[in-house]
Amino acid sequence: MPVPGDLDVNRRAVMAGTAASVAVAAAGASSSATAQQANSVLPTMARVSVNVNGRAQALDLDTRTTLLDMLREHLHLTGSKKGCDHGQCGACTVIVDGVRIYSCLTLAVMHQGGEVTTIEGLGTPDNLHPMQAAFIKHDGYQCGYCTPGQIVSGVAVLGEIKAGIPSHVTADLTSPVRFSEAEIRERMSGNICRCGAYSNIVEAMTEVAGPQSTRRQG
Ligand code: FES
Ligand code: FES
Repeated sequence: MPVPGDLDVNRRAVMAGTAASVAVAAAGASSSATAQQANSVLPTMARVSVNVNGRAQALDLDTRTTLLDMLREHLHLTGSKKGCDHGQCGACTVIVDGVRIYSCLTLAVMHQGGEVTTIEGLGTPDNLHPMQAAFIKHDGYQCGYCTPGQIVSGVAVLGEIKAGIPSHVTADLTSPVRFSEAEIRERMSGNICRCGAYSNIVEAMTEVAGPQSTRRQG
């Protein structure tokens, strides 16, 4: 029959053993968690092949790289601006496969084989795109930070209207879409200009749309 002293020793031994087991288990869990954390921060790389402004590009990128960061940080095409990086300002607008998108809101790896057009692909200082020339003529900017996105978006908007794609303010969906200031303002509403050059931007886009569109303006 055990005496009280034996029971004390045994209980202490059991508790010490339990504590050691817990410590070992915790250490094991901790090193496993550390290993998992280390694995989770290791970048997953992928080869991204895209055509940017008519030039084929192949880049090995962290799969978390946005299209905007690919353009700015890896290809050094800094015309597309990082305004908000949250899809709220339009400064990063580029055209991908004929559709304008916010390049800050999409991953580069999602555009394998895509055709990307940035402000650098529209014109050059010696050979401006008509929309670039019209922005200069109509003073469609002040600080210029939003301007590349505005110009790229403006080019795409005129293409959308010409293609007959309706917008939220298109009243008649059974007839060809009519060019109007309301259509411009609605379609350009995703491009914010802190300097407030909006009326001059509308004038520039109206000029590029041509005299026929001016007659239709309402
Ligand atoms: Fe992309 Fe503002 S930087 S929407
Ligand atoms: Fe300054 Fe538009 S020109 S933000």
